[in-house]
Amino acid sequence: MAIELTVNRQKRTITADPEKPLLWALREDMKLPGTKFGCGAGLCGACTVLMDGQPIRACQTPIGSVGEAAITTIEDVASQPAGPAVLAAWGDLDVPQCGYCQAGQIMTATWMLGEFPDPSDEDAEAIMSGNICRCSTYLRVKQAIRQAADARLSVASGTEAGA
Ligand code: FES
Ligand code: FES
Repeated sequence: MAIELTVNRQKRTITADPEKPLLWALREDMKLPGTKFGCGAGLCGACTVLMDGQPIRACQTPIGSVGEAAITTIEDVASQPAGPAVLAAWGDLDVPQCGYCQAGQIMTATWMLGEFPDPSDEDAEAIMSGNICRCSTYLRVKQAIRQAADARLSVASGTEAGA
């Protein structure tokens, strides 16, 4: 059946089974390959996208359940309040190794800093614990989150370099 979804600020209509996981609708029907398949069981976080700003597992989300909610994928993460700072910190610190888990890591980190602008390392670690990295980039993920948080806090307080 025809299903309309709002993805990355655009209306997209696809013909698919309403039970089809959002992950595969993104990758196959919408040609958005940034969201990755890891476990397919809601355990690894590789498929994390945002639904109305909240992180969800796309592998566990039937497209028929999305309705009018706005989906944001890694391809449009810069549209989120913390997206640009997260992307900049990830690049500065060369966080990715193989890169496979990184879209999910970035989506979760972007959501987190939108909700909690100044998380402690412990809180950040706890929130990020659902995103598994087989290359063990956890230390650099933690450092990048701190850098992105500090950059945003500096901007908010008007103390960024050159301000
Ligand atoms: S692929 Fe969705 S949580 Fe692992
Ligand atoms: S960078 Fe390789 S799985 Fe995380």
